[in-house]
Amino acid sequence: MTLKKKSLSEQIAIVTGGGTGIGRAFTEALASAGARVVIASRRAETLQRAADELNAHIGVERVYPHAFDVRDLAQTEALVRSVVERWGTIDVLVNNSGLAVPEMVEAITEEGWDTVMETNLRGAMRLVRACLPHMVKNDFGDIINVSSQAGKHGYADVPSYCASKFGLLGFAEAVRDHVRKAGANVRVFNFCPGLVDVEHTAATDEPRPGSVHVSNMARTLMYALSLDRDVVLEDINIYSR
Ligand SMILES: NC(=O)c1ccc[n+]([C@@H]2O[C@H](COP(=O)([O-])OP(=O)(O)OC[C@H]3O[C@@H](n4cnc5c(N)ncnc54)[C@H](OP(=O)(O)O)[C@@H]3O)[C@@H](O)[C@H]2O)c1
Repeated sequence: MTLKKKSLSEQIAIVTGGGTGIGRAFTEALASAGARVVIASRRAETLQRAADELNAHIGVERVYPHAFDVRDLAQTEALVRSVVERWGTIDVLVNNSGLAVPEMVEAITEEGWDTVMETNLRGAMRLVRACLPHMVKNDFGDIINVSSQAGKHGYADVPSYCASKFGLLGFAEAVRDHVRKAGANVRVFNFCPGLVDVEHTAATDEPRPGSVHVSNMARTLMYALSLDRDVVLEDINIYSR
């Protein structure tokens, strides 16, 4: 069976947390390759500044800011609705928004636990739930989840973060099983990075010792997306050696 293909210049992406760090590097790579990218997170000014800088760098408007809180169901559904109304499709969903609340096991607060779970896990689930029907209907889609090394190994100082990132991988595996059984042309990738330096991001910057330069994340994303439609790079464990 020949699976539908689309060039990146025909694709629409949502990158949560696309105004900073890893998400911004993903956005730059996708937009430079021709995709239109909606970057979405809470800080409208940060998003606007990132969009302005990236559009100026690329020389054409391809990055669009959208302020929303991934913990808010109505705002999450409004984000997806606005993208579909404007472009009629969502081809790439990057679940990148995330945070950690460092609290040792005996000191975990209800609030800290909920903040991490709502942001890193429930938010990603809601976005997948809202985007997947459009991907299935349009017979094309890629979902990229940014988990972590802490989604594969437990660390005493961030137990809630570990639980959320392990959970994200479990959810992704269930989604992958679902799209495979449904015969949908949708791939699900997970990034499980070790430390990524999101401060020294210029091409000429040296990353902190023990950290990966963020450009490696972007290059790996573009490589993963370039694979044949029947090939999925399931979990991408990327570390500084
Ligand atoms: N850097 C690393 O070493 C590393 C390693 C492994 C995994 N990761 C994962 O990589 C992802 C990106 O992290 P980063 O390192 O690039 O740090 P970052 O710059 O702090 O990125 C986190 C992003 O999440 C967004 N965000 C946080 N809460 C949100 C909310 N409630 N609603 C919507 N967006 C929200 C933030 O934007 P706003 O503040 O504007 O909302 C921000 O853009 C995270 O999921 C992180 O867990 C990072």
